[in-house]
Parts: sequence; C-alpha cells; structure tokens
Amino acid sequence: MSLKRLKRLSLILFGGLLSLFFVFPAWAAEPGFRLPENPVEGRRLFVSKGCARCHTVWGEGGTGGPDLGKISPAGSFLQLAGILWNHSPQMTERMGEKGIQRPTFTPEEMAKLVAYLYSLQYFGEAGDPARGKALFAEKSCIKCHSVGGKGGEIGPPLDKFGRFLSPIAMAQAMWNHGPEMATAMQALKIPRPKFEGKEIADLLAYIRVEGKGGEGIYMLPGSPTEGRRLFQDKDCIKCHAVRGKGGTIGPDLGRRELKRTVSEVAGIMWNHAPHMWAKMKTLRISEPKFSGKEMADLIAYLYFTGYLDEPGDHLKGKRIFSEKGCMACHSLGGKGGKVGPDLSRSKAVTSPIDLASALWNHAPAMEKVIEEQRLPWPRFEGENMRDLVAYLQSFTKATVPKR
Ligand code: HEC
Ligand code: HEC
Ligand code: HEC
Ligand code: HEC
Repeated sequence: MSLKRLKRLSLILFGGLLSLFFVFPAWAAEPGFRLPENPVEGRRLFVSKGCARCHTVWGEGGTGGPDLGKISPAGSFLQLAGILWNHSPQMTERMGEKGIQRPTFTPEEMAKLVAYLYSLQYFGEAGDPARGKALFAEKSCIKCHSVGGKGGEIGPPLDKFGRFLSPIAMAQAMWNHGPEMATAMQALKIPRPKFEGKEIADLLAYIRVEGKGGEGIYMLPGSPTEGRRLFQDKDCIKCHAVRGKGGTIGPDLGRRELKRTVSEVAGIMWNHAPHMWAKMKTLRISEPKFSGKEMADLIAYLYFTGYLDEPGDHLKGKRIFSEKGCMACHSLGGKGGKVGPDLSRSKAVTSPIDLASALWNHAPAMEKVIEEQRLPWPRFEGENMRDLVAYLQSFTKATVPKR
C-alpha cells in the first residue's frame, strides 16, 4: 500500500473513530456546552469552510497557513477558540488575498470544528520505520522477539501487531505481559527499556513494514466515556485523581502534560509500570490487564479530560473586560460604550460555544472599528476567555453555570 493511500485510509478510520468520542453525559451538564455527537462533521466543516485550503493536517491540505496537526499542547475548548480569535486578523487578510470568503459559524458548527482541532494531537505523527528498526535493536527487543523471521525466540514473534495502524494494540500487549517480560529481562541481565516520544509508534512502523502481519488494518477506537468507566473499574482511581477527584498515591492524571499522543501516554504508563505494580502489591490491588480496546479507551479518556473548561473566575473576567478594551465599545446593563451591542442582553453569552462563535463571526466588523480607533487587537491567553465567560454570564441569572 502506498504511503499516500495509507494516510488517506488512516484519515477515514480516524474519522470513524472520532465518532465514538463525543458522548460525555456528565460534561453535558453545562447549558449549551456539550461535545458534538458526530465529530466527523468537524472534519467535514474543516474542508467545507475552506480551512483545508490553507492548512495541512497530517500531510494533506493546502498551503499558506501552519500545519494544524502540530498545534500543541491541546488546549481546552475556550483556549482553542481564543487561538482562532487571536489569529483572526492575519487569517482574514490571507483569505482576502486568496479570494476565499471568510466563513461564519453557528455555535454548533463552532463546537464541532473546535472538537476536531482538539482531537488532532491524539494520534500524533506516523512512526518512522527506519528509526523503529534501529530502536528494535537498541532496546534489545531483537534478543527475544522476531519480526519477519529475524530475531530471538524467547518471546513470541511480533509480526501480528503490524495489522494495526495505532500502536495501542502492541502497547496493551506489552503492558499485559510486562511482569513476565521483566522476569525474562532480569534473567538475561537486559535492562528494562524505557520509551520516549513516539518511539512505540516508530517500532510499530518497522513491524508493519518488515513483519508478516497478514491482511486487515484495525484502529482500535478509543471512547472516553468507556475510558472513564474503566478508570474506576480497573482501580486507577484508587491511586490517581483526575483534576483533583480521586486518590493521591499516584500523580493527578488530568494534568496538561499528559495530553499527549496515544503512543506517548502508552510509553509513560510502561515506564512507570514497575513502580505502580509495586504499589499495587502493597495495597493488595491486582495488576490490571486490558483486553479489546480498553487501553485505547483509557488513554482517550485521559486525553479528553481537559476539553471542557472549568468554570471561570468572574472577578478576573471583569478586569479582562476592561483591560482588553471591550468596554470602549460594549455596555453591560447600560454602562459602557455604545458602538457594539449591550452584551448583558446578548444571546452570545448563553454558553461558551455561543460566545466563541459570536466572537469569530463579528471579528471583521470589530477589526474595522479597532483599526479606525488605532486600538491593539485584543488577544486571549491562558484562562482569559473562560473568566470572561463567567463574568458575562453573571449578568443573566438564568445562565449562571450550575457547577
Ligand atoms: C487563506 C488561508 C487560511 C484559511 C482559509 C484559514 N487559515 Fe487558519 N491560519 C492562516 C494563517 C496564515 C495563520 C497564521 C496566522 C498568524 O500567524 O497569526 C493561521 C492560523 C491558524 C491557527 C493558529 C495556528 C497556530 O499555530 O497557533 C488555527 C487554529 C487556524 N488557523 C485554524 C483555522 C480554521 C479552523 C480555519 C477554517 C475556518 C482556517 N484556519 C482557515 C491561514 C488560513
Ligand atoms: C528478555 C527478553 C525480552 C525482551 C528484551 C523483550 N521482550 Fe517482549 N516478551 C518477552 C517474553 C518472554 C514475552 C511473553 C511473556 C508472557 O508469556 O507473558 C514477551 C511478550 C511481549 C509482547 C506480547 C506478545 C503477545 O503475543 O501478546 C509484546 C508486544 C512484546 N513482548 C514487545 C516487546 C518489545 C517492543 C520489546 C523491546 C522494547 C520487548 N518486548 C523486549 C521477552 C522479552
Ligand atoms: C496502587 C496505586 C496505583 C494504581 C492502582 C494505578 N497507578 Fe498509575 N501510578 C501510581 C504511582 C505511584 C505512579 C508514579 C510512578 C512513578 O513515579 O514511577 C503512577 C504513575 C502513572 C502514570 C504516569 C503519570 C505521570 O505523571 O507521568 C500514568 C499515566 C498512570 N500511572 C496511569 C494509571 C492507570 C491508567 C491506572 C489504571 C489502569 C493506574 N495508573 C493505576 C500508582 C498507581
Ligand atoms: C472597537 C469596538 C469594539 C471592541 C473594542 C469590541 N467589540 Fe465586540 N462588537 C463590536 C461591534 C461593532 C459588534 C457588532 C458587530 C456586528 O454586528 O457584526 C460587536 C459584537 C460583539 C459580540 C456579538 C454580540 C451579539 O449579540 O451577537 C460579542 C460577543 C462581542 N462583540 C464581544 C466582545 C468582547 C468580549 C470584546 C473585548 C475582547 C469586544 N467585543 C470588543 C465592537 C467592538
């Protein structure tokens, strides 16, 4: 199969896989702020709204804008919406040059598009077979395992994992057989290998090229909803919290640093496994084994923990509203500028997705006035946008977030 076809196939499979992502009942609690039901539409919008004419994702797409497969680390919904907003003037200018009409979005469309952007980091770059071949020797896998008939016989041949596009199947098998492998390594005085970056993906790329894996390519879709359930069923929660909720024996797993690709997170779990197993023994928790797509589900859950924003701080939001110059043009409850609409009565502050789409849609009108008044383009960094949402929502009691 050519590389190009493989890429296209992976995109299709990836799209299908994403459709399983976006059903988080608890996160749907915030009014109007949910994950879309069919994120494949996010990709479709990306194409139909013209984004793909300038932006490449995984080697496919146009030129004129940065490769969006590489924006990192994954920010929350509002942080990604803020990035879009910050770049809006330059993008609008480029669109003008290219004769592309600047698209507008309904709140639902904005949610789908941003969810798609959020998911781009999940699979990461494709592995490199040449590096994988070198790693297979460097990490001593070759002493115990064969691929394509070449290598040791202490462990089983690894060819069968070449049928998978995602390295998660192999990572899961490594996890499950981890304790036995550790024993074999000790007996042969081979140090237990550790993984960095996309090394597991590189290893898989090598196995896919060199191995006799047979026909059929499977992706092992990951579902965050399933993952959240497994996080409890497999006892992870006894030792780990996610954003403050759960055990404290291991580190909090909702941290930004863990929003990495599947192969990186699988590598991190592998690296920490001996320490975790030891702790499990002392606490009489049995070592978890994973079957089917369970590890993919868990990692998808960890990846998506940061998607929906925590409620913001309305006092900080108040300061941002005046510091960013919004007050020069907008009033709130009658007080403030009159150039733009009174935002306390605006439908745009009903939810984060309404605000994000309204901001994007009105950017060109605002840009014109800002240029006339020689004001700088207000940029949103860090938690700016969620604090602003909290402040704007505090004006309409009915829409104050319940959490
Ligand atoms: C006419 C070309 C063009 C089109 C069409 C376009 N963009 Fe962009 N985009 C750019 C350029 C150029 C930049 C870099 C702007 C800058 O540096 O401020 C950019 C930046 C971005 C960034 C920030 C990337 C980063 O590295 O932080 C995101 C996200 C983005 N675009 C998303 C989109 C989406 C979503 C669409 C479709 C609605 C879109 N773009 C349509 C040209 C375009
Ligand atoms: C010291 C020998 C040794 C080394 C080195 C070693 N393994 Fe293993 N591996 C084994 C043994 C033995 C098993 C089977 C364990 C069992 O029976 O549970 C195994 C099992 C596996 C499995 C599960 C296979 C299956 O069919 O389910 C995978 C995947 C795997 N190893 C990958 C690797 C990779 C990748 C490396 C290099 C980073 C590596 N191993 C290094 C000995 C080793
Ligand atoms: C008995 C307690 C315990 C259980 C159960 C447990 N872990 Fe851990 N985990 C730890 C400890 C302790 C560390 C830190 C290990 C180290 O520093 O090497 C850790 C580290 C990690 C890390 C690396 C975190 C980082 O910040 O680099 C990940 C990821 C992880 N665990 C995932 C899981 C998952 C997923 C499960 C459930 C399948 C799980 N753990 C079950 C104790 C546990
Ligand atoms: C220079 C004047 C100006 C500044 C500064 C300004 N806006 Fe606006 N804003 C406008 C205008 C004019 C409109 C109406 C545009 C239209 O009709 O397309 C608007 C519309 C909006 C809307 C859509 C309201 C609706 O009901 O559809 C939102 C939300 C908004 N602005 C938020 C902000 C925020 C937040 C800031 C500060 C970061 C800000 N604006 C700064 C001029 C401004």
